Amino acid sequence: MHLIDTHAHLYSEQFDADLSEVIERAAQNGVQRILLPNVDSNSTERLWNVVNAYPERCFPMMGIHPCSVNESIAAELRHVETELAKGKYIAVGEIGIDLFWDKTYIKEQIAAFEQQMEWAKELNLPIALHCRDSFDEIFASVEKVQDGGLRGVLHCFTGNEAQAKRTIDLGLHIGLGGVLTFKNSGVADAVKNVPMEKILLETDSPYLAPTPFRGKRNESAYTKLVAEKLAEVKEISIEEIASITTANAERLFNL
Ligand code: NI
Repeated sequence: MHLIDTHAHLYSEQFDADLSEVIERAAQNGVQRILLPNVDSNSTERLWNVVNAYPERCFPMMGIHPCSVNESIAAELRHVETELAKGKYIAVGEIGIDLFWDKTYIKEQIAAFEQQMEWAKELNLPIALHCRDSFDEIFASVEKVQDGGLRGVLHCFTGNEAQAKRTIDLGLHIGLGGVLTFKNSGVADAVKNVPMEKILLETDSPYLAPTPFRGKRNESAYTKLVAEKLAEVKEISIEEIASITTANAERLFNL
């Protein structure tokens, strides 16, 4: 069985002590490849340390996370632009809008999000999208930029059925992680009718570990638990879940 964890922050300090074991456990659970979204200019060097240590397994994205948008956004965007020009990234991410923690920089968040989507289109790269308490704002921005040339994934999907449909209609995939396994999250119902061809698996490690590890550190091996839950929701085998979602990720990210 081959799985791809399409979203994991394995360069987090939380993996400093045992990263090689984390990568090994992932492989033992079928997760041979792991995609690493960037957060901001402070995480880029750590991200590359992991990619360089595991070049066959870990693949880098470049972008500025909405929670890192503040008064130094201009310098952060220059960093992203310079890095992307190197041509070594598989996607622009993670980018988006987060209104859960702080709305101070909402204007800057939207501007940075739209700028990075434009770069993704120019470079023909997919985007990895972060959306928290911001579906309406995200949809408005994507609609503005989408001209048929934008592709990507709305990572860690936590919306309802209508929001899932809107995501697909806008040309995006849906990334499913640990929240799918949470009781009462509603995500299983929301994605019940989403075509399998539009679904990717992820963990968002070290955050949002699936049941039964909820609240603990998440790691890429647990992608398998998300696949198992999705097999239950879709009433197909885990092997089919693995082969379809892996093909989806290979196609979207040109792996
Ligand atoms: Ni993330």
